[in-house]
Amino acid sequence: MSKAYLDAAIEIAQEAGKILREEFDRPIQISYKGDVDLVTQADKRSEEAIVAGLTKYFPEHSIAAEEGTGHESTSEFRWHVDPLDGTTNFAHGYPCFAVSIALAQRGELLAGVVYNPFYEELFAALRGGGATLNGKRIFVSAVDTLATSLLCTGFPVHKRLANPNMHYYWDFTLRSHGVRRDGSAALDLASVAAGRFDGFWEFGLKPWDTAAGVLLIEEAGGKVSDFAGQPYQLGGPVVLATNGVIHEETRGIALEISKRDPTAPLRR
Ligand code: IPD
Ligand code: CA
Ligand code: CA
Repeated sequence: MSKAYLDAAIEIAQEAGKILREEFDRPIQISYKGDVDLVTQADKRSEEAIVAGLTKYFPEHSIAAEEGTGHESTSEFRWHVDPLDGTTNFAHGYPCFAVSIALAQRGELLAGVVYNPFYEELFAALRGGGATLNGKRIFVSAVDTLATSLLCTGFPVHKRLANPNMHYYWDFTLRSHGVRRDGSAALDLASVAAGRFDGFWEFGLKPWDTAAGVLLIEEAGGKVSDFAGQPYQLGGPVVLATNGVIHEETRGIALEISKRDPTAPLRR
């Protein structure tokens, strides 16, 4: 049955992807949800299509969608929907953005899709069934030290001054081959699953940012936790996702940085 859920999610993500491609080629109309928290016509049209598609196939299921058009029910199934992850990139014409759709049953992730319609890259995962990119199995990297790893992270669009991430960004940049900051958490996670990045962390992400990506990483052989090593809970304050091999080394350093004074100047 899960396969049917995944197939539906893929079909719907592709539909939404078509809308994003269409909107990407037009002049963008931006409005603001916060200081630098953008929302475009594309976010709204994509969400409308996804919610309509999921509701048609699974009318009983709950849908938690970022722009607020989902619905609650008593069902144990919940879809987590980000209709456009990477809105800031999208609005600036930088083609790093994706649709992210995942299904959880009583909190357990069953199926997930992350689709970048510009590069036509579709990442999909089924609990117990592996992770794929355009139908081909993907696996996390085998890089075995932090010093030889390529990492990625992200910064929030709200409460930016309260976010401690600059300290982690600085420290991990000095300890690795580099830290990328590409502006789409869903694609960052998918890239760890595909072995393009070896690890990712970010503070304050929402369930729709991470749900599909977390399942992709688990199914590709990686590991996802918080900085204390507890399993990551959707919507938890911080997520650390790696190829598994560098997890403990990376986590140990993140934990050490978390004990420093976040207002202190950057230091080694
Ligand atoms: C954002 C992206 C970004 C992350 C932000 C998210 P949005 O999602 O995933 O990479 O750093 O924290 O809010 O707003 O483009 O859907
Ligand atoms: Ca997002
Ligand atoms: Ca979004």
